[in-house]
Amino acid sequence: MRTAEAAADGAATKRRLAHTAAAHDDQIRRLRGLLAPLGLDESAIAQATHQGLGTRLPLEQGLTNYYVNLHRDWAWGEEENAAGLAQIVQVLGGGARGLGRTLVHGAGAGRLAYDLHAAGDAPLTVATDFNPLLLLVAREMFAGRSVELYEFPIAPRGIEDHAVLRKLASPGPARAGLELVAADALQAPFADGVFDTVITPWFIDIVGEPFARIAARVNLALKPGGRWINSGSLAFSHAAHAERIGLDEALEFMPQAGFGEVRVRETTIPYMRSPASRHSRLENVVTWVATKVGAAPATPRARELPAWLKEPDLPVPRTRAFEMQAISSRVHAFLLALINGERSMRDMARMLVEQRLMAPDEAEAQVRIFLTRLHEDSEKS
Ligand SMILES: C[S@@+](CC[C@H](N)C(=O)[O-])C[C@H]1O[C@@H](n2cnc3c(N)ncnc32)[C@H](O)[C@@H]1O
Repeated sequence: MRTAEAAADGAATKRRLAHTAAAHDDQIRRLRGLLAPLGLDESAIAQATHQGLGTRLPLEQGLTNYYVNLHRDWAWGEEENAAGLAQIVQVLGGGARGLGRTLVHGAGAGRLAYDLHAAGDAPLTVATDFNPLLLLVAREMFAGRSVELYEFPIAPRGIEDHAVLRKLASPGPARAGLELVAADALQAPFADGVFDTVITPWFIDIVGEPFARIAARVNLALKPGGRWINSGSLAFSHAAHAERIGLDEALEFMPQAGFGEVRVRETTIPYMRSPASRHSRLENVVTWVATKVGAAPATPRARELPAWLKEPDLPVPRTRAFEMQAISSRVHAFLLALINGERSMRDMARMLVEQRLMAPDEAEAQVRIFLTRLHEDSEKS
């Protein structure tokens, strides 16, 4: 037991903050190096242009989502990685041989794909994800190299645990045939019916599609007689109530999705047990293997883009939605141009009315709303 020795000068707090600040600076340098292949520094497109054009990233998935997976997969997670692999090996009946051409969706930092490829005899294992940080580290690991990055545990035990520089390393270069593909699983760049096995590890609960559509996509990717291996959580509370399917519902749905011969395991395994953190979880994991016995009905394709977006020479149609957007952008641009360091809100409202861009009784209130948002946005960035 420790007794509290309050340091009047806050020495421990200073040490923690200095340690964390130095680690963040160092981490930025390391991430810049790691992400250099993306060529972001050479991009000729200014941030203002992206902002103006409304460039969007996937809203619910950022670069540092699942960052902890890097450390679990390649630094301290031996027990968890082995348990994850064991779920699949056991549901397959005790081995990982005979998987054939394998596709792993949402492979994250890549450890499960690496271990399965090593344990089995698949001629090709394609690990996909759309997070470039995870993919770039996985690439180093598959090549047998190492990378040093900080871990920032969610519940650090001691001062040094707030930022721990860890060496991420794989047991060695991967066996030939393990490939990484940067891809959105919802628009996967593969021909239909070419895989013998599709694996969805800790994936179907976060991908944001209803179970029926995920099952149909998996079915479409598989050859007849191919197998779908799923492992992880089934439903998380962020999905709409109707979509929070449990195991019973998933199994009930399988025949409709063209799957049969389903074998299921449920096991409780440790999850994200960082040695530097006071926090960890136990997960009751569902793992199944199901065989494709027929086609899925009404299989969803990747979203089809209109011809004028694919062909640079076709005229772009002036739709009602585009017209509305053009009007609102004109108001936006006009208002921004009015800000010259001299005009008041009332001056601007009057000019909007003169230009017939707004009605007199609403102009002033609208200008205030617009400027308030502008001010708040500028405080955020
Ligand atoms: C919970 S993590 C699981 C990672 C890995 N399978 C594991 O078990 O450690 C979910 C992964 O799916 C990826 N992901 C989410 N949506 C995706 C999508 N539409 N296409 C490809 N990958 C996606 C995320 O980037 C993340 O790596």
